[in-house]
Amino acid sequence: MRNEFYNPVKIEFGHNSLDFLPRYINGRKALLVTSKSFVNRGIVKEIVSNNPTIMQVISNIQPNPTINQILEIRSQLDYENFEMIIALGGGSVIDAAKAIAPMDSSNNLLELLNKGIPREMDIKPIVAIPTTAGTGSEVTMWGTIWDDINKKKYSIMDERLYCEVAILDPVLHLTLPYDITVQTGLDALSHSLESIWNKNNNAISTLYAKRAISEIFETLPLLANDLGNILYREKMLLASYYAGIAFSNTQTAIAHAMSYYLTLEKGIPHGIAASITLPIIMDVFLKDATDENIFGMSNTNSVEILKRLFSDLNISLNLKDYNLTVKDIDNIQSSLESNNRAQNSNLDTRKVLIMLREYLQ
Ligand SMILES: [Fe+2]
Repeated sequence: MRNEFYNPVKIEFGHNSLDFLPRYINGRKALLVTSKSFVNRGIVKEIVSNNPTIMQVISNIQPNPTINQILEIRSQLDYENFEMIIALGGGSVIDAAKAIAPMDSSNNLLELLNKGIPREMDIKPIVAIPTTAGTGSEVTMWGTIWDDINKKKYSIMDERLYCEVAILDPVLHLTLPYDITVQTGLDALSHSLESIWNKNNNAISTLYAKRAISEIFETLPLLANDLGNILYREKMLLASYYAGIAFSNTQTAIAHAMSYYLTLEKGIPHGIAASITLPIIMDVFLKDATDENIFGMSNTNSVEILKRLFSDLNISLNLKDYNLTVKDIDNIQSSLESNNRAQNSNLDTRKVLIMLREYLQ
């Protein structure tokens, strides 16, 4: 078994680290990719006035970016007019930037998603400024793009899609509402756990994952009750970064594989869809585990501790509250057959599906 660990993303973090953006643009002509809310809050105007080589701003990235939205954006761009991309936003914005980055003159995005990015194709470097603490996209080499018509989730993936730099500035997170704060925090928790119950894990990825888990358990409930606390914001941003580093080397596993159905068919936000099955998976994982001690306490308590976190955050773990039925579990089971994230699990996924069925009967 190989034990390899690699992550090339340079990190600038801390209060007002956004001030260092000009250093990373370094005189290059840039495209700024973001979403409407940052225009409305005046942040885009401020960034553009401090960075005169930003040539164009694309500010209409939607949550869960689709193939058609990316193609529409690509049609508005002159690739000769910029040398790099700045992605300011949550996971959807950073993922969209990764799908925009390849200089694909044929504009056949589906081919890039299906076959990968050809070696000879240039890819614009990305500086990411994540504005949520959870996605991890700023330190992974893949981005999620959705086909909303055929109800399919794709990944664009290439080592050249690792961002050049990620600027982690908690000041940008102070106005995030409760729902987004909690959902993205639970996504980070899922990334940490998924990198542990994963065939690709190793001592280094697990070290980062465990640190992320303990930080999230300690900080997320405090932050949920004190959204304007810069210290908690910074702790969650770092926790999300640790989780991102962990799963950047392992990919995600069974919880994420099941979540895509929940998002596409039930409209459940990603962070919730990727986390509401965690206690059930944890139960299966711990029954087979010998020495794994994820929360630094006895394995028998871990499922209860996990459930308590959801209860503290007012997130229901009752799958019926999300309109799930046994029929949905059948559909999830079929969706897993074509999902390589499910193959990453080092636990028996059939047991997870059996428990989900029992729960819903
Ligand atoms: Fe996720």
